[in-house]
Amino acid sequence: MKFATLFVLGLLLATALLCEGQSQGGKTKTKSKSKNKTKPTVAPQVEKQLLLKAEPCSPAKCKLPDCRCSDATLPKPKFKGKEQEIPQFVTITFDDAVNAVNYAQYELLFNGLVNPDGCPATGTFFVSHEYTDYVRVNALYNAGHEIALHSVTHGDGTDYWREADVETIEREFGAQLQMLEAFAKVDPKRVHGMRLPFLQISGNNSFEAIKNLGLTYDSSWPTQQHKSPAMWPYTLDFLSIQDCQIGPCPDAALPGVWVNPMVTWTDTEGYSCSMIDACAYPPADDVDALFEWMLENFNRHYKGNRAPFGMYLHAAWFSRGRNYFGAFKKFMQHLTTYPDVYMTSVSRMLEYVRKPVLGRPFKSCEKTPNTTCQPVHCNVQKISTAEARYMSVCDKCPTVYPWLNNPLGQDM
Ligand SMILES: *[C@@H]1O[C@H](CO)[C@@H](O)[C@H](O)[C@H]1NC(C)=O
Ligand SMILES: *[C@@H]1O[C@H](CO)[C@@H](O)[C@H](O)[C@H]1NC(C)=O
Ligand SMILES: *[C@@H]1O[C@H](CO)[C@@H](O)[C@H](O)[C@H]1NC(C)=O
Ligand SMILES: [Zn+2]
Repeated sequence: MKFATLFVLGLLLATALLCEGQSQGGKTKTKSKSKNKTKPTVAPQVEKQLLLKAEPCSPAKCKLPDCRCSDATLPKPKFKGKEQEIPQFVTITFDDAVNAVNYAQYELLFNGLVNPDGCPATGTFFVSHEYTDYVRVNALYNAGHEIALHSVTHGDGTDYWREADVETIEREFGAQLQMLEAFAKVDPKRVHGMRLPFLQISGNNSFEAIKNLGLTYDSSWPTQQHKSPAMWPYTLDFLSIQDCQIGPCPDAALPGVWVNPMVTWTDTEGYSCSMIDACAYPPADDVDALFEWMLENFNRHYKGNRAPFGMYLHAAWFSRGRNYFGAFKKFMQHLTTYPDVYMTSVSRMLEYVRKPVLGRPFKSCEKTPNTTCQPVHCNVQKISTAEARYMSVCDKCPTVYPWLNNPLGQDM
């Protein structure tokens, strides 16, 4: 080996390692197998880690079903003038732990409600781990609702999530996915979306994690500026025009990752709220007042560009007043009287957005899973705090309380 060759190889190697170190702010994944005299194989790894900056979207370059510009105010440009024929989707979502109490409410809300195509009305549940009753999650799953991810720990405030790197997010949501599979019999292939706790995204990282986890969409990003006309879901192949309310927001190109923007509601004082329970000035605790307020927010979508109408909340909202639950139920029942309003999960709605049509959105109903769950009730210890935790799961108790570093709760 000539000196010159060695020198050049050494230089290449040094440059390659340096680049890798810079690309992730010091987090060097040094795989020193490149001691080999063959050409260093570092280059492709660097390429994988570097995200490209997103460019402005142009419809010519971004086409359905896998790409959608954020500024497209209709499912298809040629639907202009035919807005009243666009099916109106309503996506009802609940966050956090599923337990016996809120499960009973969810059941009462959706029970018997049918969409105009004869398929049952469904919602999306962004499930976090602690205090979740996985037997009830299984029941929601078998009833045709979408089970989505909301992390294991739910984090310790917004700082944790704002500063979370890709690995942290992947671990939090990946472990929750494993738990849902092991304890609620949820097929990971049917899990498509996530919502960050406190709606706190962390720039590109959250969306890179979505891609790495094999998910399709995020639904954590509120918009106040795009509520009339309301924003439709879009992909991050190109730069988003969405207003960044809780930053940092992504500006890298992340092909194929969908954003389901949380189009805000307006409360009685005119303030925007990303979730119903975040509205500072809701109406009085009165069924009619609450109902009329929901209808007003709904009509901004229904009488406008028919962008999906999100009803995002936590079950705890029902305890705010005597009439909250009744008003919500009344409103859902009212929605079933329209010939063109569909209450579906977020992922079902996205199926439509990818292949939009006028009139009836789907040819057939979704196939519901048919899993069997033998409920078992477990009393296990949470290792980090030595507290006892009761936990209902399908089929078999874990040995210890499952957590981030031990999602299956195995003996360690
Ligand atoms: C070095 O590369 C050669 C040729 O590709 C290969 O046969 C050998 O196993 C490699 N050695 C190491 C340590 O990676
Ligand atoms: C996202 O990635 C792009 C492209 O690599 C970069 O320019 C930008 O600073 C990143 N944004 C955040 C908030 O990390
Ligand atoms: C669900 O599966 C069970 C057993 O595998 C079967 O007996 C039952 O008919 C199935 N139900 C539906 C609705 O497919
Ligand atoms: Zn939450």
